[in-house]
Amino acid sequence: MDYDKRYWNKATSFYTKLGIPWQWLKDGYIPVIIELKKAIGDLRGKQILDYGCGAGKITRPLKLFYGAEVQGIDPSDNMIQEARKADPVGRYELLTGDFPWPDSTLDGAMSNWVFVDIGSLEEMDTAAREIYRVLKPGEPFVMLVNNEEYIGKRTSTYQNGKTGKTYNPGDEIMVTYFIKENESIEFKDYYWPIETYCSVMERAGFREVTSYVPELNPRTIEEIEFLQSNDFFPDVDYQAVVDEKPTVIIVGKK
Ligand SMILES: C[S@@+](CC[C@H](N)C(=O)[O-])C[C@H]1O[C@@H](n2cnc3c(N)ncnc32)[C@H](O)[C@@H]1O
Repeated sequence: MDYDKRYWNKATSFYTKLGIPWQWLKDGYIPVIIELKKAIGDLRGKQILDYGCGAGKITRPLKLFYGAEVQGIDPSDNMIQEARKADPVGRYELLTGDFPWPDSTLDGAMSNWVFVDIGSLEEMDTAAREIYRVLKPGEPFVMLVNNEEYIGKRTSTYQNGKTGKTYNPGDEIMVTYFIKENESIEFKDYYWPIETYCSVMERAGFREVTSYVPELNPRTIEEIEFLQSNDFFPDVDYQAVVDEKPTVIIVGKK
């Protein structure tokens, strides 16, 4: 893989320190969890792959609060080291080539803001094929990416790309994360249209591939309340960001 691990290795401590901002849960992780639950049902004891798990930001809550047997893989050794430190009994693998799981053994897979980090179609195809290989037939793969309608628009926690700039498929796109009003950091992603991610999944063999922009709905609120009851949810005014829709969910099944 032509992945430059120095990049995410350097960003590990900052990215970990960012924690899970409210917006990332509402527009990102919760819609992913809802999709997994829709396809799998109760997640307790289910073997879920977190492709590009980073330091396990959402891997751990899925284990802790939903009882899933989540296993992460990521090419950054610093990220994997952090994930193992935070969850010494968990399984976090360093990605160096093929996945270390046998064919058709996992109950579900998710990949959160990772395919936006991949700069070549070949590399995306390789990843999607491996995810397909390790899933059991009929099981879901849920991918979380950025909404292209939001390129150049500042949201509560991040801005994907420069305002007014046009991006072509495969172009580098800088993402700014806002920490405080005057404090931010930039990460490099790649711009791909949503159809590109859908075709990658279809080429790998996934069926019924669909994409949509997640919205706050009764199901999301149910998950929010569940996480709040577990003392996990950040204490924020979610109405303030209800109208922002910076993400897209893509889902397919093996
Ligand atoms: C924005 S972070 C997201 C991490 C995690 N999914 C989360 O939500 O906290 C992107 C992660 O993707 C990983 N990554 C970058 N390129 C990758 C690739 N080609 N395959 C797998 N992971 C990759 C990086 O090392 C980094 O940990």
